Amino acid sequence: MTSVGIDAVEIRTGKLRLDLPETFAPAQGDDPGKYTKGLGLTASSFPDVYEDIVTMGANAAHELMERKGLEPEDIGRIDVATESAFDNSKPVSTYIAGCLEQVYDGDFHHANKGERKFACISGTQSLDDAYNWIRAGRNRGRAALVIATDTALYARDDPGEATQGAGAVALLVTEDPDLVELSTEQGYGSADETDFLKPQQQFPSVDGKRSVQVYLARMREAIEDFESVTETIHPDDYVLGPFHTPFPGMVRKAAALAFRHFSRDTEIEEALADEIGRQPRREAFDSEEAFREAAADYTDDLTDTDTYQSWYAETVEPTLTISREVGNWYTGSVHVARLSGLKAAYEDDADLTGERLLVGSYGSGAQAEVHAETVQSGWEEEIEALDVDEQLDARYELTFEEYEDVHDVHNHDEDAGASDTDQFTSPEAEFVFDGWGRMGERKYTYVE
Ligand code: CAA
Repeated sequence: MTSVGIDAVEIRTGKLRLDLPETFAPAQGDDPGKYTKGLGLTASSFPDVYEDIVTMGANAAHELMERKGLEPEDIGRIDVATESAFDNSKPVSTYIAGCLEQVYDGDFHHANKGERKFACISGTQSLDDAYNWIRAGRNRGRAALVIATDTALYARDDPGEATQGAGAVALLVTEDPDLVELSTEQGYGSADETDFLKPQQQFPSVDGKRSVQVYLARMREAIEDFESVTETIHPDDYVLGPFHTPFPGMVRKAAALAFRHFSRDTEIEEALADEIGRQPRREAFDSEEAFREAAADYTDDLTDTDTYQSWYAETVEPTLTISREVGNWYTGSVHVARLSGLKAAYEDDADLTGERLLVGSYGSGAQAEVHAETVQSGWEEEIEALDVDEQLDARYELTFEEYEDVHDVHNHDEDAGASDTDQFTSPEAEFVFDGWGRMGERKYTYVE
C-alpha cells in the first residue's frame, strides 16, 4: 500500500509577543510561577493589527508552496481548520486561495475547498480528510493543503486569558511523504460535553477545571480504542508523544496518566514495585472513589520516579518547547507539538527514520483522536528548512497597555475594536488584511 502522510510543514506565528511571567502576571496580580511552573507557559503570540487567521494561514501556505516548488495546479484540495472563523457561510479556505492567487499565475479553480469545525481537533480531522481523499484515489496525483489557523483569544479576565495564542500551521499531505506517514489505525473517544463552547460568540464560555477532566477522559477512551485495533501500548513503543497542548501543564497531567496506563502489567511496573508498590486495581476496592484516590496517589509517586522522569524528558518534554513560547493555537496546537518534537530531535542529531510517534489530538465538546505516525527518511531536510526560531525571536514585545489595545483590535465587537491602533511591526513579503469590502467581506493584499 502506498504510504500517505505529511510531506512538509510550515508555521506562521502572530508577530507580537506577550511575556506572561514578566508582563501579564504582575498586571493580573498573579505569582509568575503560576505561568512558568503551573501552566508551563512563558509567552503568548498575538497577531499584529494587519494579521488575522487568513493572513497567518496564507503566509504559512505560501512559504510551504515556495519551498516545495509547487504551483496551484499541484494542489487538489485546501482544507482549513479553525475555531476563529468570521463568516458562517464563506469558508476561510476561499480567502486563503484568493490570497495565494494574487502571487501565482495559476489558480485553484479545480481544488476542493472547505472548512472543518470541531474545536481544536478539526486540524487533525482535516488531515484525516486529506489522507482519506488520497487513499481513495481521488486526488489525481495532486497534494492536499491542510491549514490550521486560529486566534485563540478569551474574554479579558477569563482564566483562559493566560493560555491565549495565535498562529497557523500549513501541512502538505501527499503520497510517499518526506516527513511522516500516518497510520491507517485510529482510536476515538467522543461524547457530548459542555466544557468549552462559543454559541454565536467570539470568546469561549469555558468551564476550565471541567475541560481538563474532559480532555483526560476522552483521551483515555481514544487510547483504549486505538489499542483495540493495534496492540497494547508499551512506553518504549513511541519516541515522541505529541499531544494537543492548550498549555504544557495539561500535557503533563495527560502524560502521567498515559504512562501509568502503558506501564501496567509490564516489566516497568514490576521493577518499580519495591519503590512505589503496584498499581491499584479496581477489583481490590469497595468503591470507585477509593480506587480513584489510590490511583491518584500511585500516579503522584510514579511521576517522582527516575523511570518516569527520563521517559517524560525524552518523549514528551521536547514536544512542548514551542508551545511554551506561543500559547494555544487551538487547531494548530498538536501540529506545533509534532514539529517541536521533531525539531528537538533534529537539534540532538537523533536518528528518527522509521521510528514512531503517538499523536493525541483533542477538541472540546468533546473528542480525542489517537493515531501513530512513522518518521520518513526526508524528515531532517524538512525540519532543517524551517525558520521557527527566527520567527519567534523576531516578535515585537508588547507592554501590558499595548496588549490591551491588541486584544481590542481583534475583538469582533465593533464597539470594543481599537481601530486607530497603529501597527507594531512592518509587513514584508507577506499577505496583510486590507480593510472591508462592499458586502462586509475582509480584503487582503500582498505587500512586497
Ligand atoms: N507556582 C507554581 N504553580 C502554581 C502557582 C505558583 N505560584 N500558582 C498556581 N500554580 C499551578 C496550580 O496549582 C495549577 O496546577 P495544577 O492544575 O497542576 O494544580 C496551575 O498552576 C494553574 O493554576 P490554577 O488552576 O489556579 O489556574 P486557573 O484556575 O486560573 O486556570 C485553567 C487554569 C482552568 C486551565 C484556565 O487556564 C482555563 O480555563 N484555560 C482554558 C481552558 C483550557 O485550556 N482547558 C484545557 C483542556 S480543554 C482543551 O484542551 C481545548 C482547548 O484547547 C481550549
